[in-house]
Amino acid sequence: MRNITEHNITAAVIGQLAQCENPRLKEIMTLLVKHVHGFVREARLTEAEWMQGIEFLTATGQMCDGKRQEFILLSDTLGVSMLTVALNNAKPPGATESTVFGPFHVRGAPELALGADISAGAPGEPLFVQATVKGLDGEPVANALVDVWQADEDGFYDVQYKDSDQLRARAVLRSDAQGRVYFRSILPVAYPVPTDGPVGQMLSASGRHPWRPAHVHFMIQALGYETLITHVFRDGAPYLDSDVVFGVRSSLMAQFVHHASGRPPFGPATGGGFYTLDFDFVLNPAAPARRELP
Ligand code: BEZ
Ligand code: FE
Repeated sequence: MRNITEHNITAAVIGQLAQCENPRLKEIMTLLVKHVHGFVREARLTEAEWMQGIEFLTATGQMCDGKRQEFILLSDTLGVSMLTVALNNAKPPGATESTVFGPFHVRGAPELALGADISAGAPGEPLFVQATVKGLDGEPVANALVDVWQADEDGFYDVQYKDSDQLRARAVLRSDAQGRVYFRSILPVAYPVPTDGPVGQMLSASGRHPWRPAHVHFMIQALGYETLITHVFRDGAPYLDSDVVFGVRSSLMAQFVHHASGRPPFGPATGGGFYTLDFDFVLNPAAPARRELP
């Protein structure tokens, strides 16, 4: 393998994968080399541009720590995360669609009783959520573990406050025997993804805004069903058609209804206005367990 040229280098690199013993790794590496070389050729990348790319990826890695994952943000904003979700989560008609997980889920959020106020003091207008968890045949799914998390009215998740470890506007709840899940929270608002790193520079240099439309995150786990990772988006709110991470699906949009006064559907009065959200989640059955051959 000598006298490598722009015409034979792709085959040469792929050829060096011949001894790779893991067939899936071999397939992925082959396609990666083929497509990255294709990109360099088609863009006719200059050496200065190559260096700029290396510096950008280096800065992206340097921005990452236990709390900040700039590479996932890069994947999200380039549509790679949503493409992966779409490829791996095809749902039958009637099942609730999946969307991106995002970086702000926290494992071990407090498990709260149905009807609880999950905001824990996070600022925002009161929101009363009444949801159901059902299967494709309409059967209620009891005892589903429902993880909820969202940003406050300033557009920040609790974990983004550097000076506080308090978990707010997030909780784990369990559906009751009728598959019902209800809790008090706060009205979600649109917020920008973090822009103080290389991804923010990439967005502004590309003429893109950093905003996500208002949403509440849900992860629902139940025995016998596929885990559902999704959001409910606030219908009519800004950025639904230009989500910076491409996560919006029409089926996940719902009315957050404003009530100027009156009693909320459960729990104590708010002493003012509030919002309500009703949403029915439909879970896809888990793939049947593989039968062992006799
Ligand atoms: C989120 O919705 O929490 C999110 C998703 C992708 C990137 C940043 C934030
Ligand atoms: Fe979010």
